[in-house]
Amino acid sequence: MGERLEPEQVFMAIRAEVRRLLGRRDIGGPLEDAERAQLAPALRALAEAYSVERAGADALAFSDPRRRAAYLAYYGVRSFLVTRLLAERYRLDGSSVLELGAGPGTAGLGLVARGGGWTAVDVEPLLLELATALGRRLDVAPRVIAAQASARSWGGQTPTAVLLAYTINEWPGDLAERAELLGHAVEHLTPGGLLIAIEPAVRAVSRRLSALRDRLIAGGSGVVGPCTHQRPCPMLERRRDFCHGRHRVVAPPDFVLLGQQAGRFDLEDADFSTLVCGRDATPRLPGWRAVGDVRREKGRDRLFLCGAAGLVEVYALTGRKRVGREALRDLRRGDVLAPDLDLANAPVRIEQPEPLRPVGWLP
Ligand SMILES: C[S@@+](CC[C@H](N)C(=O)[O-])C[C@H]1O[C@@H](n2cnc3c(N)ncnc32)[C@H](O)[C@@H]1O
Repeated sequence: MGERLEPEQVFMAIRAEVRRLLGRRDIGGPLEDAERAQLAPALRALAEAYSVERAGADALAFSDPRRRAAYLAYYGVRSFLVTRLLAERYRLDGSSVLELGAGPGTAGLGLVARGGGWTAVDVEPLLLELATALGRRLDVAPRVIAAQASARSWGGQTPTAVLLAYTINEWPGDLAERAELLGHAVEHLTPGGLLIAIEPAVRAVSRRLSALRDRLIAGGSGVVGPCTHQRPCPMLERRRDFCHGRHRVVAPPDFVLLGQQAGRFDLEDADFSTLVCGRDATPRLPGWRAVGDVRREKGRDRLFLCGAAGLVEVYALTGRKRVGREALRDLRRGDVLAPDLDLANAPVRIEQPEPLRPVGWLP
């Protein structure tokens, strides 16, 4: 399967590219005060662009090298860390990666194995230049294709992994077109290969990813995670629900400081929506998955679990001497509980005295 890149080497390559874009000499160490001061306003501007209507925003934003540098040093670092987390959790095979909407390619760097093949497709040539420059520094230069993600743009490949990080929500076309394209990608994976989609944890975007999941399953793909079942997503039943993960990642202090300087953005507080699927694939961990955080209320802890029977609310009374007081205490978003937990007639009061022990965790 091949070894993945060392994070510290990736961070060094990112810093070198950031300095090149800022027109500064590569001095090797962490980004310095003066460099972060140059990047912070550009990062603020990018974050503002991301919080409003996206259409057409990118081409405009990325023509400015300082914005490309700011993207790389913040969002690029986050993409790397989140992809790497998934690569490790799902033991993804990075020996032949097809990345759609690759941008500067740092997500791909979290997945591709040393000596592996990597094709990066994106509509933005200026970002693909960065992917190439980073890849060269790390001896994994991608083959780049400057085009819209479409079956034609990458035709003929049979990758071990197809990666789509924070890009699907920017694509033109409706759900049916996206499902057709992703379904096509799944069909062309090598046996055992997986498609990994990561999207921002924004209600409308996450719900579209859940709807895409349902379409892919209907079209014959199998979901490996984070779902523990292949039934229609129960999160789509109520308009207010959406499925997303949240995890504290560890980033080098200079990138963390940049986020704080730009506007108290917490780089290490990563939230995301994910989907991992493949041909003839089945859920990695069948069972009940915590799809929220434990809510501590007066006298009770509450949690929503998702499983083949739907979304189930469970609670444990936490008052003095209550049986079940410890049951939900240690659970976190993404924990998976064994499928044999009896959860008929929701909401279900958990009466077991010891903490419930997860059988795994899927971000
Ligand atoms: C938010 S960036 C994410 C980039 C990168 N994957 C990451 O995680 O940092 C979205 C990327 O999607 C690309 N993009 C948008 N629409 C696209 C399309 N139809 N086909 C291919 N790439 C697209 C943009 O150019 C941009 O690089």
